[in-house]
Amino acid sequence: MYPERWLRLFTSLLARHVPPRPSFPGADTDDRAITSASICPHTAAWLWWYLIQTKPGVIVEFGSGYSTTVLGAFSRVRAAGGAVQSLILSAEHDAEWYALQRQQLHQTIIDGHVHLLHSPLEKQIRFGREVTCYSNVDKTLASLTPDGCADFLFLDGPPGTAVGGVGREGSILQAIQLVRPGGLILIHDAIRSEELRILTTLHLDRKINFHCKGIIPVQCGLAICTSDPSMRH
Ligand SMILES: C[S@@+](CC[C@H](N)C(=O)[O-])C[C@H]1O[C@@H](n2cnc3c(N)ncnc32)[C@H](O)[C@@H]1O
Repeated sequence: MYPERWLRLFTSLLARHVPPRPSFPGADTDDRAITSASICPHTAAWLWWYLIQTKPGVIVEFGSGYSTTVLGAFSRVRAAGGAVQSLILSAEHDAEWYALQRQQLHQTIIDGHVHLLHSPLEKQIRFGREVTCYSNVDKTLASLTPDGCADFLFLDGPPGTAVGGVGREGSILQAIQLVRPGGLILIHDAIRSEELRILTTLHLDRKINFHCKGIIPVQCGLAICTSDPSMRH
């Protein structure tokens, strides 16, 4: 089947599981409250595809929003099918956005499908560098799981320098340290110049177990990466 047909198939499967959402301040006209900063439906379909292919038990997200609804729907579908429920920890740095997402995801949070964490950004040392990372994530994950590691990390925050944000070098390094060997890191906006430079530098750094398997050309690019040492070039 051509990739476009796969994409259409996964988009329609996803639509069955992600309910329409009421709009809220900051939302565009779309009734699922997809804002200009949200992942697009094609990216959502790829995210859904990777979730159902890999069935991760522990998922971390950097940058909450529509993507969190997709993650919550995955947990709901898994639980309905009798599978062990996935643990989803979504980190949001912005207090106002966090409060909005708490309202939006109210039922999903009550049902235990998503842990939404307010994580103000802070300086941390990662791989010997002082970088900007999400606070509270490592210790919260350690308290919720036996080994403090994630199987899957969806990275869509904090805002990149291309949109006036602090950039993602820190969150990418944090992701590499949170995900267990063999786990997946999906990085949104991967073909923006700063993100592409960071990914290329890390991919070539032999001291860091980071391998970028490829970038799906949707929106600003969705990089599929792993921290698997066996994938070293
Ligand atoms: C790229 S956005 C994350 C989008 C999210 N993954 C989604 O699919 O909707 C990165 C950060 O921008 C901020 N943000 C997102 N949408 C916003 C909006 N409409 N207005 C202001 N800030 C926003 C939030 O702090 C968010 O974590």
